[in-house]
Amino acid sequence: MKIVETAAELSQLRGKMPGPVGFVPTMGYLHEGHLVLVRQARAENASVAVSIFVNPTQFGPKEDFRQYPRDPRRDLALLEGEGVDLVFMPPVEEIYPPGFNAWVEVGGLGERLEGASRPGHFRGVATVVARLFELVRPDRAYFGQKDAQQLLVIRKMVADLDMSLEVVAVPTVREPDGLAMSSRNTYLNPEERKQAAVLYQALTLAQKLYGEGERNAAAIRRRMTALILKQPLADIDYISIADAETLDELDEVKPPALVSMAVRIGKTRLIDNVVVG
Ligand code: PAF
Repeated sequence: MKIVETAAELSQLRGKMPGPVGFVPTMGYLHEGHLVLVRQARAENASVAVSIFVNPTQFGPKEDFRQYPRDPRRDLALLEGEGVDLVFMPPVEEIYPPGFNAWVEVGGLGERLEGASRPGHFRGVATVVARLFELVRPDRAYFGQKDAQQLLVIRKMVADLDMSLEVVAVPTVREPDGLAMSSRNTYLNPEERKQAAVLYQALTLAQKLYGEGERNAAAIRRRMTALILKQPLADIDYISIADAETLDELDEVKPPALVSMAVRIGKTRLIDNVVVG
């Protein structure tokens, strides 16, 4: 496994990688959710590249950029175990050289839900992913369905900018109690961790209500809200029931609909989603 930090080294090695090349962009502190992406990339491509880069531009000024968990040595051991060919671990100046001032913005899709709660977040995501795609030049790139809106924003960017690669969505990996795997789960203390299971319970409730014939989005949201607020440490940022492609909010649930939410458990903001129908 080759480990490179500069665009120049990357470009040299990329030229020698047999195609197709599968790419998994990450911010490191890898968990099973990332490894499932890597395994799928490994199974579907001749070569696999992974990036580890905690992207400062997708964090708001009051967010957790500095405290975001990092453990590059462990990450590299895990990636080596998965048979990854190349890891790109650039310093910030390699991605954003002095004077860098070109940004990718995906209007509409990138402005609602997470985009509304975290202004500038998707501009940072789209810009770094565009930079990484340009540097790595993958044939396929793998993203988790857990960040459903990120996936939609990236698909839209790839389509609108005619980027010649395939974006592959991979199902969310969950803990035994349903909590979606996330590097931020490490912020939770034992009591918060226990209460965090309510996110998936609420999503499962939405699926159940839909399965029983409920189509009124407000009624489903009310039941989800009541369930979540039974947990004393939970504070709801949003619960959305939206068209799974446009993210337009629905009054009447029509499949496929994306039920998504952001909930704070203590100080930790968690997101999760399911598609119904
Ligand atoms: O999903 C993530 O880990 C990040 O948003 C990504 C896609 C690596 C961009 O920094």
